[in-house]
Amino acid sequence: MSLVTTTEMFEKAYNGGYAIGAFNVNNMEIVQGITEACGELDAPVILQVSKGARAYANHTYLVKLVEAAIAENPNIPIALHLDHGDTFELCKDCIDGGFTSVMIDASSKSFEDNIALTKQVVDYAHANGVVVEAELGTLAGVEDEVSVEAGKESYTKPEEVQEFVERTGCDSLAIAIGTSHGAYKFTPEQCHRDENGKLVPPPLRFDVLEECIKRLPGFPIVLHGSSSVPQEFVEMVNAYGGQMPNAIGIPEEQLREAAKLAVCKINIDSDIRLAMTGNIRKHFAEHPDHFDPRQYLKPARQAVKDMVAHKIVNVLGCDGKAKDLSVR
Ligand code: G3H
Ligand code: 13P
Ligand code: ZN
Repeated sequence: MSLVTTTEMFEKAYNGGYAIGAFNVNNMEIVQGITEACGELDAPVILQVSKGARAYANHTYLVKLVEAAIAENPNIPIALHLDHGDTFELCKDCIDGGFTSVMIDASSKSFEDNIALTKQVVDYAHANGVVVEAELGTLAGVEDEVSVEAGKESYTKPEEVQEFVERTGCDSLAIAIGTSHGAYKFTPEQCHRDENGKLVPPPLRFDVLEECIKRLPGFPIVLHGSSSVPQEFVEMVNAYGGQMPNAIGIPEEQLREAAKLAVCKINIDSDIRLAMTGNIRKHFAEHPDHFDPRQYLKPARQAVKDMVAHKIVNVLGCDGKAKDLSVR
């Protein structure tokens, strides 16, 4: 039993009009919540680890947790991916350390420097049977140490994607079409209010996506910053002592539309954080005497599982697809 790369996953997802969920993992409860949902729904999955996750939990612990998830869910293909690798050395560490996929995010560099670093990672990764995600364009929001103010993002230039993919040899490409990292994806000024007073964010740039697809037929596209920031969790956080005013995400219907096109990987992290935090805050408010971490981590893990199950069915459309894929 072993990890898979994303190659077959993306091929099937592209042709099948669905996407694979890429969920960030930082601890045991998150790994369990995600993979239990995937196991029950027969959904392939990408578990992704950021530089911050490695610093928090330690590379070896995370790899071993994922190995445990594979043993517990032998029927679903699981890929282990480095999220937002920013140096060759970090990517190499993960390739040498058992990951099956890495992202080199050199999107803040010039076009030529992005190509040079991405190609260096691709050459090493491919020589070791590992696949590479690269990025063109800049998302708004916060990721690791990089913060880009809402409104200061830059959309991917479709006229650059073909040359970038040809010269780097990358296996998938993350593009910027208006998604954004974190729980505050848009300022209230960027949104309008519907008839019920609810904030409605600006729509994703499907025109940019379509132009990229035209220039890269059959090539898997990735969307970062794709949490929907469910208002039920935001309300739960705020009702039990938290302060997350104006937290807002990407409407799920738009992500579902993207998944039907060339978008094969959809990244979700903030929704996991919100599901856990909302439920832990609620648990503490309702059980002020509890002090055993199992008491509050159990509902938090269940909330992650329920949220992921919802995404699989309603956003990604990858339920029941594991049986069409090899698991090792
Ligand atoms: O895109 C960033 C991911 O949400 C990972 O966040 O760097 O805080 O682990 P992190
Ligand atoms: P969210 O902050 O929208 O969950 O995005 C996560 C992500 O893109 C991880 O790379
Ligand atoms: Zn990201």
